[in-house]
Amino acid sequence: MIGLRRGLVRGARISALGVHVPERVLTNDEISQFLDTSDEWILTRTGIRERRIARVDEAASDLGEIAARRCLESGLLDPTELDLVIVTTISPDHMMPATASIVADKIGATKAGAFDVQAGCTGFVYGLAIATAFVSANIYQNVLVVGAEVLSKMVDWEDRSTCVLFGDGAGAVLVQPTDNGSIFSFDLGNDGSGAAYLNVPAGGSRRPASFETVRKHEHAMHMTGSEVFKFATRTVVGSCEKVLGDADLTVEDVDLFVPHQANIRIIETAARRLGFTEAQVFANLDRYGNTSCASIPICLHEASQNGRLKKGDMLLMAGFGAGLTWGSCLTKWEL
Ligand code: ACO
Repeated sequence: MIGLRRGLVRGARISALGVHVPERVLTNDEISQFLDTSDEWILTRTGIRERRIARVDEAASDLGEIAARRCLESGLLDPTELDLVIVTTISPDHMMPATASIVADKIGATKAGAFDVQAGCTGFVYGLAIATAFVSANIYQNVLVVGAEVLSKMVDWEDRSTCVLFGDGAGAVLVQPTDNGSIFSFDLGNDGSGAAYLNVPAGGSRRPASFETVRKHEHAMHMTGSEVFKFATRTVVGSCEKVLGDADLTVEDVDLFVPHQANIRIIETAARRLGFTEAQVFANLDRYGNTSCASIPICLHEASQNGRLKKGDMLLMAGFGAGLTWGSCLTKWEL
């Protein structure tokens, strides 16, 4: 069993999936009505046409709750049977408590532990790795990983270089034991020397909230896009090669490559360098933008709904984001 090479005691698999995106669609043309930008600029530089925007009264836990409920319904699991709820997000409801505590309460996961994972947009892959470790080590049977984001509240809507990129949404997966060891290999990475390239400067202990931080829009995401772009293409390629090598597989063995949906140019560059054909690569950021920790599960749902991802397929997922972090996961799709 390939998974045993990585020290897994027993196999783990993704056994259910649920997603939720807000109804409200915000198009590039609408943004260009209040910002000096255009559909043409956004589309050619990023591949994004539109994104979903949460209601004013909606926070990450609200979207995460619906995705989590849908996931448990499809997995036929009662929420009280959950052992652990992990929420991955860069737009938590609060600095404290963890959004996972709120989601667990909302769905009735009364017997589960709960905590958040903050690893930028790589959070979903990190969360999946943690869930796999708990299940594989025989500590837990039922672990829910929820990627939930309301990034529309984390961007500066006067900063055209960031606000056009992001969208809101949530996705959840259930990780359970299997005899087949269907999650084969992970690679998690970090280079904190790039922390300043993508951050929310204020609101933490380094720079607590003040009138000045609010005036300077320092509670919104700041990004040096060109540096993140270079970092992303480099690390995604290296990370994917590593997980494939660990499993003694090559790109030809992969049925579907689902990268984090940040920019179509990053996806195309990484896919080309890795040697994937167009048919092997999944992208839907034209309709959702960058939903950070929710982007991969939103892709998985769409791909499985429209037949691009079928039971038994070899699936490669790759994330990258603030930290700067990156991570990849190779698994057999069993839904
Ligand atoms: N509309 C029109 N013009 C714009 C816009 C806009 N929305 N945004 C920037 N511009 C302008 C800039 O002001 C600049 O003008 P100038 O030449 O007069 O100074 C020009 O366009 C070029 O700007 P660049 O930043 O060089 O544009 P670039 O081609 O690098 O694209 C982008 C910018 C899309 C942000 C790109 O760098 C990128 O996608 N980077 C990666 C971002 C990313 O992946 N982020 C998510 C990481 S995941 C996470 O953890 C959140």
